[in-house]
Amino acid sequence: MANDCERIDKILSHHGFGSRKDVKKLMRGGFVVVNGKAAFDPGMQIRIGSDTVLVDGVEIKLQRDVYIMMNKCRDVVCANRDGEHRTVFDLLDDSVRHKFLGGDLHCMGRLDIDTEGLLIITTDGALTHRLLAPKTHVPKTYAVALRDSLDESGKAAYVEKFARGFFVDREGNEDGFDALPAELEFADFEMENSSEKADCLLTIYEGKFHQVKRMFAQLGNEVVYLKRVAMGALKLDASIPLGSYRELSEREVSVLRGDDSD
Ligand code: URA
Repeated sequence: MANDCERIDKILSHHGFGSRKDVKKLMRGGFVVVNGKAAFDPGMQIRIGSDTVLVDGVEIKLQRDVYIMMNKCRDVVCANRDGEHRTVFDLLDDSVRHKFLGGDLHCMGRLDIDTEGLLIITTDGALTHRLLAPKTHVPKTYAVALRDSLDESGKAAYVEKFARGFFVDREGNEDGFDALPAELEFADFEMENSSEKADCLLTIYEGKFHQVKRMFAQLGNEVVYLKRVAMGALKLDASIPLGSYRELSEREVSVLRGDDSD
């Protein structure tokens, strides 16, 4: 976005250089260089994405929003704080934990504590809102291992039930719901970077509480391993080790937005 501009004191303050008053002092001291020239005006407009800003010789990464692809491991929770468990935010390092101009870091949808796989962590609240809106029906694909194995006719019956959709009972305070048609495919899936195996891939078009576990429970089975492998057209990068992450490329952000479905 060529015309995406922001005041330099706001940018540097968000990047952890103290209050706007602190930034003013830093600038007076000649420590801030914009596009090769010392900058002294705290109100200077910076073009995010095209200007270069150095503080004491170190380049500041200018971005309004951040988009992180995490391969979530088990035993961490998708919450800002948890008295008992580590959160996915505890797995991030300082380079992405500062404040961003776009907003606060949050999870784009949640995975249960015992679910692995693709988790997007971002500051882009508008995109999260759009993709998680119930009417958007973004497909989410999960690799699933089941407690009870099935013969061919059992597998065919499951595939048909998921293809039609079925009612899922209430769980605790969560109402029951009519699950939308979903796609189930049986095959032996070896999980990369892990000894886990999955029996099937399930693609659902909504995101109800414990949805995958509850759907299989409704059929009398139990999910014993669950990993999200895709969200929309964005696939988990299998080279990311469990519990690690990387930033999405611009192209991947477009894929996530649905602008580019290749
Ligand atoms: N469905 C579940 O049951 N758990 C998850 O973490 C995600 C989808």
